[in-house]
Amino acid sequence: MCGIVGIVDKDHPVSPIIHEALQRLEYRGYDSAGIATIYQNAIFMKKDKGKIKEIHEKLDLDKLPGTTGIGHTRWATHGLPSRINAHPHVDCTNKIAVVHNGIIENFLDLREELGKRHTFVSETDTEIIPHLIEEIITKTKCDLRTATKRALQKIRGNYALVIIYVKEPHKLVVARNGSPLVIGIGEKVDYCASDIPALLPFTRKVVLLNDGEMATIQCDEISIETINGAVAVEPKIFDVPWTPEMAQKGGYPHFMLKEIHEQPHALNGTLMIRPEIIDQIAKVLNDSEKVYITAAGTSNHAGLAGKYMLSKLSALRSQAITSSEFQESTVNLIDDGTTILAISQSGETADTLNAVKFAKSNGARIVSITNVMGSTISRLSDLTLYTQAGPEIGVAATKTFIVQLASLALISLQLADIIGKLNGSEIEQFREELLQTPRIIEKTIKKQESLIRDIAYEHANKQNFLFLGRGISTATAMEGSLKLKEVAYIHSEAYPAGESKHGAIALIEPGFPVVFVTPPDETHEKIIGNIMEMKAREATIMSIADEQDYEIQKLSDKTIGIPQTPTPFSPITYVIPLQLFAYYAATKRGYDPDKPRNLAKSVTVL
Ligand code: AGP
Repeated sequence: MCGIVGIVDKDHPVSPIIHEALQRLEYRGYDSAGIATIYQNAIFMKKDKGKIKEIHEKLDLDKLPGTTGIGHTRWATHGLPSRINAHPHVDCTNKIAVVHNGIIENFLDLREELGKRHTFVSETDTEIIPHLIEEIITKTKCDLRTATKRALQKIRGNYALVIIYVKEPHKLVVARNGSPLVIGIGEKVDYCASDIPALLPFTRKVVLLNDGEMATIQCDEISIETINGAVAVEPKIFDVPWTPEMAQKGGYPHFMLKEIHEQPHALNGTLMIRPEIIDQIAKVLNDSEKVYITAAGTSNHAGLAGKYMLSKLSALRSQAITSSEFQESTVNLIDDGTTILAISQSGETADTLNAVKFAKSNGARIVSITNVMGSTISRLSDLTLYTQAGPEIGVAATKTFIVQLASLALISLQLADIIGKLNGSEIEQFREELLQTPRIIEKTIKKQESLIRDIAYEHANKQNFLFLGRGISTATAMEGSLKLKEVAYIHSEAYPAGESKHGAIALIEPGFPVVFVTPPDETHEKIIGNIMEMKAREATIMSIADEQDYEIQKLSDKTIGIPQTPTPFSPITYVIPLQLFAYYAATKRGYDPDKPRNLAKSVTVL
């Protein structure tokens, strides 16, 4: 989704730094970019369609004068990707410039009204903002802060905004309602951006704006207030534990590969999470009449696996519902005996936030698992477990998936302990085994990466894939299929293996690739039947199986062996070959797996 940056510096030109920060936001997904600065009572602006590198080669984004400026990467919603629709947008007098992430819902009405007196050049919803502010300033002669506040009171929708005005050249006015925005504090310089990784090389001191708040940022002063009303809010400065190196490729060709390799480390960190938070969450689940797990995309697959873990290890009845369907599926079902376990890497996914807000308004308790401190989901939650994956830059979620799984495993074990479903020594054994998973991943990558690459290269030209698993491995299969679709653009479907004979099997013809996820758990015998069915139709069988599973090896054309993993935790290790497979299929096909087309790292629209 769109990325925004703003910088106000006492002494130095800001455009090279805005350019660098925009590059750090590229992973969010975008189709055009631009920068505007203030210099000698005028706005200077460069923007275009395309990648930042191409725009920079054409326009030189570092050569805008001025010590105050804003920048933007646009992910098109209203209007095609084009130079005209790219942000920043300006008013008729070219004195006010705005960048925006989100959607203004009542923009058509506002545009019709303002269109009588103002000239619009783009198709965007954003462009109404500079014109509205211009009109308020012209009529009332107020300052930018007051005009912005009045303008925002007329606007409905989601936004993170940064606004500059040539008559107040050392100031950024920012506002947030439903789209992420952080303020960064430096020495004689202040920043704002859509997310923390954009600011890491410049500062690790941040202030998090809440929805419904706006701020006036000057180099040595930040004042925050509510948009509706005159309530001043004390800025709380928060030290970010992430380092700038964590958000760099560190010698790998892509973030996705780096993040796959970082998984043992991310997992170790997460397995060391404070036991108190795990215990608090387990107690809340135990005290609930109903538990719903909700999330989107990869996090939804973690949620699905979590449902199996909670039922297997701790006999907890829960339902996993994809966030975009949550409200429709639970109308009349949520009350104050309900707990929502919401999972979101970014903590900013609009579908998941929407599900959480709906449940909260019906009296539910909210427990969340997220990787981003201070993210919106954490602020909507009664309890939050922070996974310790460090920043994830690749659009395809990899390390955050396995730390979500590990968190769910820890919660399930704690709940099993509380309710006495497992005895002390059983729990200890499971915990010990869970602690072995980072080592198993390390071994798997070391031993199997080149084989996985060869298999991926060999099959990268296939048009369709089927991913099958049973029980908890259905979630692993779904995640493998999603990875292949999103980074290699190969059509694939994932099914519970038993369900495949009710339809998907009609697709099978000689050589059709079917990937089976087959850990040696209680589903093993049945999945062999499903492999036989596919083999009988001459499908090409690829299996992810225990390294000692000679039966599966014999039945499969290719097998990737995984060292012995305790069965309820198999998704944590069995997904690794599937992530690598998707990565190598994407690179073989010539795609950049870090920036898949049409996708955004954090999807902040419904
Ligand atoms: C995963 O590879 C995708 N990029 C996507 O499905 C993602 O998991 C989904 O948008 C949810 O994001 P979240 O975890 O930040 O809420």
